[in-house]
Amino acid sequence: MSSNIEKLNERITQAKLGGGQKRIDRQHQNKKLTARERVEYLLDEGSFEEMGILVTHRTTDFGMDKEIYFGDGVVTGYGTIHGRLVYVYAQDFTVFGGALSETHAEKICKIMDLAMNVGAPVIGLNDSGGARIQEGVRSLGGYADIFYRNVKASGVIPQLSAIMGPCAGGAVYSPAITDFTLMVEGTSYMFVTGPNVVKTVTNEEVTSEELGGASAHAIKSGVAHKTSSNDVECLEDLKNLLSYLPQSHKEKPMDLPFELGEEYRDVLETIVPDSPNKPYDMHEVIRGIIDEGSFYEIHKDFAENIIVGFARMAGKSIGIVANQPMFLAGVLDVNSSRKAARFTRFCDSFNIPLLVLVDVPGFLPGTDQEWNGIIVHGAKLLYALSEATVPKVTVITRKAYGGAYDVMNSKHIGADFNYAWPTAEIAVMGAKGASEIIFRKEIREAEDTAKELAEKEAEYAEKFANPFKAARRGFIDEVILPRETRRKLIKTFSMLENKDVSMPPKKHGNIPL
Ligand code: COA
Repeated sequence: MSSNIEKLNERITQAKLGGGQKRIDRQHQNKKLTARERVEYLLDEGSFEEMGILVTHRTTDFGMDKEIYFGDGVVTGYGTIHGRLVYVYAQDFTVFGGALSETHAEKICKIMDLAMNVGAPVIGLNDSGGARIQEGVRSLGGYADIFYRNVKASGVIPQLSAIMGPCAGGAVYSPAITDFTLMVEGTSYMFVTGPNVVKTVTNEEVTSEELGGASAHAIKSGVAHKTSSNDVECLEDLKNLLSYLPQSHKEKPMDLPFELGEEYRDVLETIVPDSPNKPYDMHEVIRGIIDEGSFYEIHKDFAENIIVGFARMAGKSIGIVANQPMFLAGVLDVNSSRKAARFTRFCDSFNIPLLVLVDVPGFLPGTDQEWNGIIVHGAKLLYALSEATVPKVTVITRKAYGGAYDVMNSKHIGADFNYAWPTAEIAVMGAKGASEIIFRKEIREAEDTAKELAEKEAEYAEKFANPFKAARRGFIDEVILPRETRRKLIKTFSMLENKDVSMPPKKHGNIPL
């Protein structure tokens, strides 16, 4: 009996040392925390309960029977963040470079199954050299077991991934299926095939950082939803993100205490410039509407012509999708449509009401966009907003032109409440373009074509560059002063709180992918 107690203590001590002090020191030298340090930092103090600390791999090939590490390269268990239950796994790079074995995968699957059964988020802290090379196909099977669970859990519980070291080959597909991927700058990278294979196949010379570092994925590919400058910041970002989310699809996000005041915001009156061609920063509008300091932006550096993120209105979590006139005049293009569609679907899966702020001149023209499938990608956003059954509220701040008017949460695709500011212009296109088409003959035949065009433009603008035609038809429920927007939205979201709508029964829809 006493020898078993000794054995237990010895094994736990060994497990806690991972691959040994030398490798822990190397991890620290590389500016990375160890798996256990990450878990300790992430969870509420003293709340972590570990599972499977005594698990070891079963491989005997290549002398592996002599290399046994308790826990087998991944720390798994549960604990709380802000007092709420979460399941977590953290790959331990000090043990076989965090490489995934059959048993390592089994440990991850075990907590995923529990998370699904109980209804709480799963957080994966990835730091791994990929499939455990000594195990071959058993390791690949382990990955697939995780992917399969990621898919089954999608839309059931929030799944968050932090990439805090290497994540290569098949390993990338678990984070890709989860809801959010956060990356640490300088120490993490993700790619399907690394620089050596790239060189052999395409003859391109590229470093790991260039190919799949945090900024490559935050700016170019959009694979990373958020980046941070070190491990601690990344873990803080995860905690903060969770505060906006419910535990599962069966729940609503938690409310923060909030005391309502007058809630008028004069700052909103002067943001939209007089000239319709002048840009302004939609972030200022967002700041003017939401609870102070509550914006958590997703995909900040990717497809900047649209802004998406979480915020709070009177302490309640909402998702915001907003055109950004500062970039490409806020047009919809391939990447901005994909970005906004994915975010919309996340919010809808997890009962987070949507606020859509509109200033959109249309879709980006050009061969590049057409050949890259803007038709299908634009349709994703249209589909996502149409199928969303959470409360959906729109505010048109300025332009809402053409098909983009329909797409951006118009009344016609199921928005519950549509506001417009007096500066709104709701039309098929801008006044100049419209006049050039419908008054072509008059303009061509006029003595002074420029004067005729200006006059026709003014005539068209007078008729359509305002929100009143749409309001007369009821496509806009109310035209409001910018300063009242926050107050109105708080009341509207509160009015919609018990909205209960479902789509027709079906196996699943067929979103244009
Ligand atoms: N399987 C088994 N062991 C692995 C491994 C893997 N996939 N990847 C790394 N390791 C081991 C290394 O042998 C090394 O062991 P040691 O501490 O006993 O020396 C340890 O993990 C650390 O690896 P190392 O190469 O020293 O670290 P690094 O920071 O210099 O490089 C990688 C990290 C991930 C770039 C590099 O290890 C690598 O390329 N690994 C293989 C990636 C791969 O092809 N995976 C399979 C396909 S998914």
